[in-house]
Amino acid sequence: MSTTVGDLLRIKGAKVETITAAETVLDAIRRMSAKHIGCLAVVTKAGKLSGIVSERDCLWKVIAEGKSPKTNRVKDAMTPLKQMKTVAPGQTVEECMSLMTGRRHRHLPVLVDGKLTGLISIGDVVKFMLDAQQSTIDSLEKYITGTF
Ligand SMILES: NC(=O)c1ccc[n+]([C@@H]2O[C@H](COP(=O)([O-])OP(=O)(O)OC[C@H]3O[C@@H](n4cnc5c(N)ncnc54)[C@H](O)[C@@H]3O)[C@@H](O)[C@H]2O)c1
Repeated sequence: MSTTVGDLLRIKGAKVETITAAETVLDAIRRMSAKHIGCLAVVTKAGKLSGIVSERDCLWKVIAEGKSPKTNRVKDAMTPLKQMKTVAPGQTVEECMSLMTGRRHRHLPVLVDGKLTGLISIGDVVKFMLDAQQSTIDSLEKYITGTF
């Protein structure tokens, strides 16, 4: 049976770091830096997902354009929800990998009935796949050497 997004969130945790569209890009950069993460979910005051803002958004749409992160708002840099892909907890890790590589998305918010319930990154998916491969190799080695 394939591992799902829900399984992955149980391993990595479901807490999502967020910001609002009205905060500055500098606030976003500082929050990502403090948490050692590459993106924030952009939420309304009511907590509803409206998009994401990534380190790449900040660099490409603000810094590279010569704009100031102190005065430009998250709303000027974020990727809005309608331009993104989201996933549900029942989708498989393989589906996420396909979405991420096919559409060049590095982060996928997880939604249940429109409510933000987690976020997974390309690194989470790659780590899971490497761990699964290693586990298969270990089992095969034990089988071949008769040490299982
Ligand atoms: N060892 C691990 O478990 C692990 C997991 C993921 C990534 N990484 C490594 O970290 C580096 C960068 O990773 P990346 O490119 O996947 O992206 P990233 O730096 O944005 O993500 C790093 C971790 O933070 C989490 N994260 C990111 N934004 C979040 C948010 N807003 N709220 C809650 N959690 C959030 C991700 O799910 C991931 O677990 C890579 O070198 C990658 O290999 C390691």
